[in-house]
Amino acid sequence: VKKLNLPGLTLPASNIVLGLMRISSLGPGEIRELVGAAFDEGINFFDHAGVYGVSMHECESLFAAALGWSSAEREKAIIQTKAGIIPGGYDSSRTHILDSVDASLAALQTDYIDILLIHRPDVLVEPDEVAAAFDTLQASGKVRHFGVSNHTPVQIELLKRSLQQSLLVNQVRLSLVHAPLISTGTAASEKWTSQSIDREEELLDYSRLNGMTLQAWSPFQKKAFDGVFVGDREEYPELNIALDEIADKYGVTPTGIAVAWITRHPANIQVVLGTTSPERVRHSAAGSDIPLTRDEWYRLYHAAGYFAP
Ligand SMILES: NC(=O)c1ccc[n+]([C@@H]2O[C@H](COP(=O)([O-])OP(=O)(O)OC[C@H]3O[C@@H](n4cnc5c(N)ncnc54)[C@H](OP(=O)(O)O)[C@@H]3O)[C@@H](O)[C@H]2O)c1
Repeated sequence: VKKLNLPGLTLPASNIVLGLMRISSLGPGEIRELVGAAFDEGINFFDHAGVYGVSMHECESLFAAALGWSSAEREKAIIQTKAGIIPGGYDSSRTHILDSVDASLAALQTDYIDILLIHRPDVLVEPDEVAAAFDTLQASGKVRHFGVSNHTPVQIELLKRSLQQSLLVNQVRLSLVHAPLISTGTAASEKWTSQSIDREEELLDYSRLNGMTLQAWSPFQKKAFDGVFVGDREEYPELNIALDEIADKYGVTPTGIAVAWITRHPANIQVVLGTTSPERVRHSAAGSDIPLTRDEWYRLYHAAGYFAP
């Protein structure tokens, strides 16, 4: 798969990321197979969060226990995790961030996290507390790089005023059928359509201007966590015809094309897969670097229901 250079990271980062949110139901052998399939495709980037699993830190723990990595193997991987979600709300206090990282390190059986994200914007955020936590974590070597998830540009700016470290990534919901990040841009001058309403505060261009890498979560889900649009010919007939035809042309599956629609964007967006199937990891990896033509990219965009006047 295609590799990206994220500023400061020693390893090149795969533009396809394996998300581990759904591994609770897998046994150790299945986890090894899933992660093995990812590595075989060149995927070296793994996305966790303290909150993934039935109990806190469960998925991190299952992952590490199943793999039993040596330190040499660990060093070939980029491990990202997140802190800040607590039962019933969010907590970005210094104490919570530090405690959460310690619990993640123990669960992941490692002594460093490559990238720590603040999982969701905390309404009660005190940027100086986040900064104090990041300073402590960086000084101790427990966390090497930092980022956010589900943050708007202004929320990022508010944090940046206090932080010493740069924010490398922002992980947000983005798929062919959930793309306001992209679609408000083409409707900006057409105020008669709700597609022009910018709820994202120009996040896409903000990220490009500031050298922040966007990561697309739920790349196959419909609008909420309500199933997958790939193959759903009843709800998305036109889109699936387009996916099928373009997939045929490139000799990949429609899943690969749904990935390619995101990776083709020049902002170098990473795609965070949630599949627990080694086969779907391979199908998705095939979409890492497909040179979709403008015709193909815009055909998918229109077929997903967006318009560009
Ligand atoms: N930052 C955040 O707030 C946030 C929120 C949610 C998720 N995430 C991250 O993003 C990752 C991906 O999220 P997600 O799991 O919602 O994304 P997803 O990849 O869109 O969805 C995965 C689910 O869809 C199924 N699936 C995928 N492709 C399919 C296909 N072609 N046909 C049928 N079923 C298919 C998978 O089943 P199989 O397992 O059977 O393939 C799995 O249950 C998570 O693991 C997590 O790391 C982040």
